[in-house]
Amino acid sequence: MTGSHHTPLPEGFLWGASTSAHQTEGGNTNSDWWPMEQGAAAGVGHIQEVSGDACDSYHRWREDMDLLAGLGFTDYRFSIEWARIEPAPGQFSQAAIAHYRRMVEGAHERGLRPMVTLHHFTSPRWFAERGGWAAAGSGEAFARYVEAAAPVYAEGVDHVCTINEPNMIAIMVPLLDLMLGKTEPGDHAFPTAGLPLPGEEATEALVRAHRLAVEAVKSRAPHVRTGWSVANQVSHALPGGEAAREAYLRPREDVFLEAARGDDWLGVQAYTRTLIGPDGPLPVPDDAELTLKGWEFYPGALGDALRHAAATAPGVPLIVTENGIATADDSRRVAYTAGALQAMAAAMADGADVRGYFHWSALDNYEWGSFAPTFGLIAVDRHTFARTPKPSAAWLGAAGRSRVLPTAAN
Ligand code: BGC
Repeated sequence: MTGSHHTPLPEGFLWGASTSAHQTEGGNTNSDWWPMEQGAAAGVGHIQEVSGDACDSYHRWREDMDLLAGLGFTDYRFSIEWARIEPAPGQFSQAAIAHYRRMVEGAHERGLRPMVTLHHFTSPRWFAERGGWAAAGSGEAFARYVEAAAPVYAEGVDHVCTINEPNMIAIMVPLLDLMLGKTEPGDHAFPTAGLPLPGEEATEALVRAHRLAVEAVKSRAPHVRTGWSVANQVSHALPGGEAAREAYLRPREDVFLEAARGDDWLGVQAYTRTLIGPDGPLPVPDDAELTLKGWEFYPGALGDALRHAAATAPGVPLIVTENGIATADDSRRVAYTAGALQAMAAAMADGADVRGYFHWSALDNYEWGSFAPTFGLIAVDRHTFARTPKPSAAWLGAAGRSRVLPTAAN
């Protein structure tokens, strides 16, 4: 691939959009986020809104898939909800399993290949109450659910993502303290720039849980290609910041990329970058264009992330499982995504083995505390749940039919 106009997508390249269960389904009352949202929405901390009905995708998933397939996408990444499948320890809901199985079959009926994520940030309440990932036996508990969910992915699913952004999950403990108002930015638990330090116990537990989940999937469905998706920090060292960059990245990203060595694929998720000076991460520069998340508009992040992932997990095929922008101006979404795709093409031309691209997100959805940062290709009316594809959706989806990488001009 060259990154020029008319760059063909490689044979078999996955072309899709992503969602997650908690952010779209609605009514995820048995998940650990639900009670946290109720308390925090009372005005404390950074959780401003409850997920509530979200996009009502638990009922409207057919509509979501009809739209994606109609737009031209050939692939859809969605997650299944552990809290619904295992509402209490060891109790499995056949109805929930059948629901997600219908989604897998429904995707195929519409010409969409499903990529199934087994864990996307939310866990059952009972799992959180027994101590979450850092508690003894967390990996076994996760693997037991993964095995029970086998009917969902045993046929017709080529790619299973075990855990979405394990590095963010490990970082989430201090992050949630901030969101719940227990700490203030600037406290030792939460730096003014960059991300907090993940807990070592949680990191080890997540790496172990991934391995156990891979074994569980393979034991039930040996054909499935397993991997996990890492949040790429895309850290740029300013002069003198190289050592600080290395120290920053290692626990927050690289240990998770290294844990993917030997996997069937590795998911890359990139949105923005972090600048690192000699003393560590720096705030976003004053003159930078900001997205609705307050992140720097930096489309090149995807190329940097792919190069870093390729170097850190050599030989492992890469799939872009998330990339996108929170903006109210859809033309900026097209500009951002076109830039990101150019950067992806350039990384591929330099040897990165990229097998697919999934945009985040298919829908405007619950952005972990607020519906305001709109990442969607498709707008969702907050009262009627009516879906309205934005121009970016048609622009990006069309490449699934033309099999040519979209540029800002087409
Ligand atoms: C997560 C998504 C999230 C997105 C934008 C990723 O961290 O996997 O759930 O909505 O980034 O913040």
